[in-house]
Amino acid sequence: MRFSPQSQTIQRCAACGTELSELDARSRCDCGGLLEALEPRPSLSGKALRALFGARRANAQGVLASGVWRYRELVAPGATDAEIVSHPEGNTPLLVRPAVTRFAGVESLAMKHEGHNPTGSFKDRGMTAGVTQARRVGASAVACASTGNTSASLAAYAAQAGIPALVVVPAGNIALGKLAQSLAYGAKTLLVRGDFDACLALVEQASRELDVYLLNSINPFRLEGQKTIVLELLEQLSWQPPDWIALPAGNLGNTSAFGKALAEARELGLIDRLPRLAAIQAAGASPFAQGFAEGFRERRRMKAETVATAIKIGDPASWDRAVKAIAETNGVATAVTDAEILEAKAAIDASGVGCEPASAASVAGVRKLVREGTIRPNESVVAVLTGHVLKDPGILIAYHRETDPPPPGANRPIEIDADLRAVERALRG
Ligand code: F0G
Repeated sequence: MRFSPQSQTIQRCAACGTELSELDARSRCDCGGLLEALEPRPSLSGKALRALFGARRANAQGVLASGVWRYRELVAPGATDAEIVSHPEGNTPLLVRPAVTRFAGVESLAMKHEGHNPTGSFKDRGMTAGVTQARRVGASAVACASTGNTSASLAAYAAQAGIPALVVVPAGNIALGKLAQSLAYGAKTLLVRGDFDACLALVEQASRELDVYLLNSINPFRLEGQKTIVLELLEQLSWQPPDWIALPAGNLGNTSAFGKALAEARELGLIDRLPRLAAIQAAGASPFAQGFAEGFRERRRMKAETVATAIKIGDPASWDRAVKAIAETNGVATAVTDAEILEAKAAIDASGVGCEPASAASVAGVRKLVREGTIRPNESVVAVLTGHVLKDPGILIAYHRETDPPPPGANRPIEIDADLRAVERALRG
């Protein structure tokens, strides 16, 4: 079942099938299963639905100026304009840079740069939907556990909605730009002595016992917003799907959202074939890639370790949904080393595009999958860059200035006296 059997959106437990109303604020089904949002089937499909989305894109008025709410039939059709908390967000570019295409080893590579969202990551697409839902259920406070981007986004959208926000992050393991954002936007910020997986367990407990509305990606409405990354990139390609969509994978919310978006887009005749998903993890935080290699025989967990702190997650919450997304799209999951991530990041950065470390996993993953023959060089690929280059200045400075010997893409700053000859030496050197 892809759409709601009723004329309203419902929430349905993926484990036991129990149905909850759209405005039920529980973060999980009572059986412990994850909830899925099912919208009523839109009255339009195929060409007519594509034309409706296209007309809104051309007009860009009010909430429809958002690259999320332009697709509102597939996000939260019950939400009124007055309820919607939108920056606006989305409308992110699809970038082609020959140097990155060559690096990846394919003929056609486009980068969907979600770092162009208001708080600098794709999380804004889920958060506009999630905080809108918080407003609709009358939440008195909202909370999330995060590796940094979700918390930055929640802090911003909660501030806009005037709802107090609590963010729970692993102390010492979140990039500087992200921590700074959460403080700036005024969220109560808890630095937990523990990893992300411990933060998520803690915040789930808080949502059950302290009456705060949970806005991690286990919240089904977040994923409905994130589906629009796929809808928007398909629209930018005139609804001609690429052969592959590659994305970094941590807690697996985005992988799940992509699978759902693609299945719905095909069912509604927006596209006539499915791209294959490639979910890319960091080698030190790769339970899903391991699971894929074993045919998803069992759910894997590990103690996570990687420079890409955004995806430093050992026990991904959306495992089952993501397995479904990979199965339905004939997709793959793989892992890349920290060195491969940093090399891909240096190539993306040096092309003038730039992204945070976790985002570069997508391009590193494409390169690996091409080298091992899974992606053929003549297949078309969209790689999703999930976060902005300035999210993690610490990694940049370490890579360019402090690593010895200098890594291949290092661009050492040169300290000089205020002297023209020194400038000349630097110029010629
Ligand atoms: N890329 C970036 C930049 C992220 O921040 C995240 C997740 C991902 C990729 C992976 O997405 O978890 O849906 O598989 N960041 C979360 C956070 C966990 O708290 O900001 P996922």
